[in-house]
Amino acid sequence: MRGLMKLATIAAAGILSLGIYTTDAAAKYDYTNYSASGLSKESSQCLDCHRKATPFVVNDWKRSKHFYNGVGCYECHKTDESNPAAYDHYGFTISTLVTPKQCGVCHPKVAKEYMDSIHAHSGLISQKAEAKSGGNFAVIVMQMMGWDKNTVIPHQTTNGESTWDDIINDPCWPYAGVPNNLKTPRPKASAVIKIFANWGCYSCHGTKIEIAKKTKDKVVFDLRTWPMIGAGTINPDGTIGNCAACHPFHSFRLKIVRAGIGACGRCHESEDHPNYEMFGKSMHGAMFLSQFDEWNMDAPAIKAGQDYFAPTCGTCHMGAVYQGDKMIYAPTHNPASICKWKLGMWKLVFVRKAGRPHPGLPSVKYPTDGIKNRERAFAMCTQCHTKQWVANCFIGGDLTMGVLDYFRRVAFQVERDLEKAGLNTPLDRKIVRDIGAMAVRPTEIAMFHYAPGYIWWEGIYRVAFELVEWLESSVEPRLGADYVSKYVSWIKKHVKKVEKYKKKHHIH
Ligand code: HEC
Ligand code: HEC
Ligand code: HEC
Ligand code: HEC
Ligand code: HEC
Ligand code: HEC
Ligand code: HEC
Ligand code: HEC
Repeated sequence: MRGLMKLATIAAAGILSLGIYTTDAAAKYDYTNYSASGLSKESSQCLDCHRKATPFVVNDWKRSKHFYNGVGCYECHKTDESNPAAYDHYGFTISTLVTPKQCGVCHPKVAKEYMDSIHAHSGLISQKAEAKSGGNFAVIVMQMMGWDKNTVIPHQTTNGESTWDDIINDPCWPYAGVPNNLKTPRPKASAVIKIFANWGCYSCHGTKIEIAKKTKDKVVFDLRTWPMIGAGTINPDGTIGNCAACHPFHSFRLKIVRAGIGACGRCHESEDHPNYEMFGKSMHGAMFLSQFDEWNMDAPAIKAGQDYFAPTCGTCHMGAVYQGDKMIYAPTHNPASICKWKLGMWKLVFVRKAGRPHPGLPSVKYPTDGIKNRERAFAMCTQCHTKQWVANCFIGGDLTMGVLDYFRRVAFQVERDLEKAGLNTPLDRKIVRDIGAMAVRPTEIAMFHYAPGYIWWEGIYRVAFELVEWLESSVEPRLGADYVSKYVSWIKKHVKKVEKYKKKHHIH
């Protein structure tokens, strides 16, 4: 029986490597047989325990190509003592983290492309920005509230009872990696807000993973730094990035990343970069969402108009590009390989140049050239559309950048002038940031993702409205009508009208 099962498994592996998945789940996965061909002695021992200790993990891994190719638990989780996250686990030296270093042993080209991309550096870049802003991102909320570094907010219910005992007597408490400055009923607000900053900002950008407690056979990570699976995670072994940011373990199924809407959309979403929302509201998204189940998204390389019939984040940004039957661009792990512009910064926009230093972290260089990227993009879209169709889209987008950036430049200038006059408040910072980050940036991105509402209502309309509302109702009372009318001429005329009206009706 076992032999038969094994044969069936090998046959299934054959089918999989041809890229033809059967639709019958029961035929596809056999959860009673754990003998993959070529599984190492060590990994078989992991399985002996883990079938019971973590059955979900084992069954999920059983769905993967790794299982069918004899890549087991040990091949990924093994490490050595030089890794600070290593521990002894029943005689094996392993790490819970599996970093790009370990994946790169078998996927060297992929690992290099990813580690050279801006993606893998997004943790370092945002940590640098954090250091500049004065410590941590808690400062955004701290400054708005007017709190300083000594402000203490105790753990209490709304009616003032302490909740501290209910926290430390919780059954989870002994397993958690709680840093010392949070082991108190009266923590500093800045320490608590750091939890939000990490689980917020760094779940996407990547935390610097810290070890809270280490014994010979256990590593406990600081709860503010793990398990967040950011694109630019800074790992204890000295590597950057996390392959699981897009490829959720342990199935590592290509369909998941190619669908992109979730794998990428987890981070590329909400107000400041709503790619996920835009895709869902574009014609491409409509085509994808209604039909993807009929497509062949698991094959090793997929072809537009054959395996799939509408593009996704993954296929546009990273997928192979064909001309006829010839693959003219191989899949890549630099998702910016089709990006002419750098659109994702809230303060500025520019055309990429290979070797150009990143403005926030000059040691990181842009790996590819904007114009070359545009050539790839043009070839990618013209797999499905005509040249005129695509050129109109791209040049149309390019022509909007100057006007969009003008609004942001005005906002920065006005903020500087408020500062010079000593009349600025933390709320001005928020408003200027929102104009740059939540209005101009997403509109730039929208110009290349074709969701009409994000181009108009959430786009240029919002940009103009937010700037003018701020100038009229908040800056004019401080810097005067002459000043704001440099940018928006009707405000001065309006102020004069109001003055006349007040005089006539004796209003002071
Ligand atoms: C003697 C039984 C046994 C063996 C052998 C074993 N494990 Fe485990 N392992 C466990 C148990 C039990 C847990 C705890 C699971 C939990 O916390 O829910 C665990 C936890 C883990 C964790 C998570 C640790 C953490 O702190 O979160 C990893 C990773 C892991 N094992 C990998 C492996 C690998 C890889 C192998 C083979 C090289 C292996 N295990 C062999 C029993 C075993
Ligand atoms: C292809 C590489 C790979 C293989 C094979 C693999 N793992 Fe993992 N495993 C990972 C990655 C990546 C993570 C996520 C680590 C992180 O960043 O937190 C992980 C996490 C884990 C965790 C913690 C997960 C959780 O949700 O708590 C356990 C336990 C674990 N692996 C056990 C196993 C066992 C047992 C096997 C064999 C059946 C196995 N792994 C095979 C890559 C692998
Ligand atoms: C010991 C070698 C080895 C390690 C380590 C390894 N892989 Fe793989 N991986 C393979 C092999 C072999 C295949 C199957 C290749 C094929 O079918 O062409 C594969 C396939 C894949 C695939 C394609 C899956 C599919 O359904 O087509 C992905 C994605 C992947 N690996 C990601 C990872 C990630 C991420 C890591 C680290 C967390 C990792 N691998 C670690 C050997 C490895
Ligand atoms: C930004 C999201 C993302 C990250 C991060 C990522 N991948 Fe991928 N990966 C993808 C997408 C999308 C594809 C499918 C490309 C296509 O359509 O062919 C893919 C395909 C693969 C494949 C199969 C095809 C190939 O090119 O060999 C392997 C293997 C793989 N990834 C391994 C890794 C490893 C290892 C890492 C970490 C070093 C990693 N990936 C990080 C999104 C990602
Ligand atoms: C875990 C979060 C996360 C996931 C998942 C993710 N990204 Fe990103 N991505 C980021 C962050 C953070 C940045 C900003 C990097 C920076 O500029 O510092 C970024 C930047 C980018 C950029 C611009 C990079 C550059 O060179 O300027 C592109 C393009 C991109 N992502 C596309 C994708 C695609 C496509 C996917 C899915 C296949 C994806 N991302 C998945 C977090 C993520
Ligand atoms: C939901 C995921 C997510 C969260 C939360 C998030 N970001 Fe981002 N961030 C991104 C993505 C995605 C990009 C830009 C991608 C692009 O290029 O379009 C980005 C861009 C940036 C950039 C510009 C990158 C560059 O190359 O200079 C900085 C700086 C930044 N974010 C900092 C932060 C800070 C600080 C926070 C928390 C206050 C935060 N982010 C929260 C995903 C996120
Ligand atoms: C139809 C193809 C297509 C699809 C689908 C698509 N994009 Fe894009 N995306 C583009 C093009 C083209 C650009 C670059 C425009 C330029 O700079 O010339 C771009 C730009 C971006 C950028 C800006 C990067 C930067 O900072 O310069 C990010 C981030 C991004 N896309 C993420 C995504 C995500 C996430 C999804 C899915 C939710 C997605 N895209 C879907 C084609 C696509
Ligand atoms: C895999 C094929 C495919 C690729 C690649 C692709 N598209 Fe499309 N696109 C479609 C389909 C399908 C439609 C729906 C109309 C139709 O049936 O032809 C569509 C519709 C559109 C629309 C109409 C949107 C509207 O709401 O009016 C625009 C604009 C567009 N695509 C631009 C692009 C651009 C620009 C690229 C490259 C960045 C691109 N497409 C890549 C298949 C594709």
